[in-house]
Amino acid sequence: MIDLHCHILPGIDDGAKNVEDSLTLLREEKRQHISSIVFTPHFNFERISLDEFVQARKRSFELLGSSPEFQQLEISAKLGAEVYFSVKLNEYDLDPLCFEGTKYILIELSTGTRPYGLTHTMTDLLNRGYIPILAHVERYPYFADNPVELYNLVMKGCIAQVNAGAIIGKNEPSGGMAMKYLKWEIAQLISSDAHSMQKRPPRFAEAVSVIRKKLGDDYAEWVNKNSGDVFKGRYVDVPVLKKPKKILGKWI
Ligand SMILES: [Fe+2]
Repeated sequence: MIDLHCHILPGIDDGAKNVEDSLTLLREEKRQHISSIVFTPHFNFERISLDEFVQARKRSFELLGSSPEFQQLEISAKLGAEVYFSVKLNEYDLDPLCFEGTKYILIELSTGTRPYGLTHTMTDLLNRGYIPILAHVERYPYFADNPVELYNLVMKGCIAQVNAGAIIGKNEPSGGMAMKYLKWEIAQLISSDAHSMQKRPPRFAEAVSVIRKKLGDDYAEWVNKNSGDVFKGRYVDVPVLKKPKKILGKWI
């Protein structure tokens, strides 16, 4: 299995604080049969320059890479970023923020109100050849209130990711939406978004077994295949989606 969203690089964001924290998380990922990982530290244009971020990420990865235990874990690693949404995204060359060797870029949205300019910024990104992956879509109230908004973005070519923890539902009020988005195939990916063993530990194995039980083996295999396609830079096979409908106050 493959993890496309995590905060495991040491000392760069609110995830792993040091190499030992990183190794603890990586041992747990391996135990859950994850051997390919994209490291996606937080990046926000308002807080740090792109060059500074790329340098800090390089140093952090080199520090982890110099650990003999990291080498022994034999993880196939790529660098990426979790990029906070900004209407300024299209003013920059975003290649350094994409998952290495691909055009996939992980985008985090506001958990408050719907970002101004969301649709046109995503459209511009797609027109430039990037494929935005919307991070943990179950967290955004404006999509939960109107899933057609998310449906429209996916129909344009965006990809949507849900967190493994939300599928299991523990401590995640948004868990119900994560499962709905997967069932509707409006979300195509699951990832850990792991920060530490205390705050959002990797829960892939549990999430996959919940998906198998509630939605069936085909869904579990479909999301795994999608992660593999993203990791290799291939297109994700999104089926023709049905537009969500609200019936008797419930989205179906
Ligand atoms: Fe994250």
